[in-house]
Amino acid sequence: MSYLDATNNLYKEAALTPDVGLCCTTNPIWELPGLKIPTIMQEMNYGCGSTVHARDLSNNPKMLYVGVGGGMELLQFSYFNRVKGGVIGVDVVDEMLEASRKNFKVAEEQNDWFKSEFVDLVKGDALNLNVPDNSIDVAAQNCLFNIFKAEDLKKAIEEMYRVLKPNGKLVMSDPTCEQPMNDTLRNDDRLRALCLSGSLPIADYVKALTDVGFGTIEIRARKPYRILDPKNYPTDELIYIESIEIAAIKDPMPEDGPCIFTGKSAIYYGDEDYFDDKKGHILLKNQPIAICDKTAQALKDLGRDDIFFSESTYHYDGGGCC
Ligand SMILES: C[S@@+](CC[C@H](N)C(=O)[O-])C[C@H]1O[C@@H](n2cnc3c(N)ncnc32)[C@H](O)[C@@H]1O
Repeated sequence: MSYLDATNNLYKEAALTPDVGLCCTTNPIWELPGLKIPTIMQEMNYGCGSTVHARDLSNNPKMLYVGVGGGMELLQFSYFNRVKGGVIGVDVVDEMLEASRKNFKVAEEQNDWFKSEFVDLVKGDALNLNVPDNSIDVAAQNCLFNIFKAEDLKKAIEEMYRVLKPNGKLVMSDPTCEQPMNDTLRNDDRLRALCLSGSLPIADYVKALTDVGFGTIEIRARKPYRILDPKNYPTDELIYIESIEIAAIKDPMPEDGPCIFTGKSAIYYGDEDYFDDKKGHILLKNQPIAICDKTAQALKDLGRDDIFFSESTYHYDGGGCC
């Protein structure tokens, strides 16, 4: 049995018997005015972090969500466009599609604005999406891509890139891990399916996205997720796993490489009203400006003594220049 079959079996079980402890974090289940998340969707929250960011969702975007789980995030996405088929939900596990279909019926009873027809549930595989090229404004996945091994991860990202319109966004949340994991952990299909042993360091995760062509990356949040300890897992050392929320934007790749925003800022504090690097970055005196890592390095390389650089906060929430 391949690790993909093991994953399908695990989520078949998780669809038939909701498992509150599976995957999820203590992430807040946020509700908006008029938006009520049914308890069953909360119990089937098998993601880490959130992929629903209001600022991505203006102007009735056409949305795609891959790996539907109990449907909570699809309901949250629907809140922002409220049209028939506004969100396409793809999952490879029949039982998960069926469970989320039922959960949307419950959501209809609790939310008078919501209709199940807002979500188009489709059987399909993240590695070979049955969605047309350049047709999606916002695509999302939460806690699925970390399960994939390198070649499959590449395929899954290529598929998301293919279906997004130019400048469309891929919004994701996944566990990450900066420590090396031993092969026993890496090759344990069940731990991988449980989102515990497939995670990559953030830099490798970002590289997988930019290698496929995404020109802009935003790391929006970085949080503690899990500990793998020697008493309970096949490891000699304690392994600390975090989760990130990250957006990859299908912008053209800049000639000098991708813009990766990790939450760095620059503050000019010199004698003039502003500093202009003549490359599109104007730093007003004493006003922080969000900059991507590439621009941070270029400005540092100028060797000036009147620009302060903050470290990466891993909490980028828009603005800045690049
Ligand atoms: C960890 S759960 C996350 C569910 C949901 N995103 C959430 O945040 O609650 C992974 C989901 O991906 C689905 N899945 C697993 N392999 C898949 C694949 N190859 N293609 C599409 N969906 C898949 C599972 O059935 C399950 O719904």
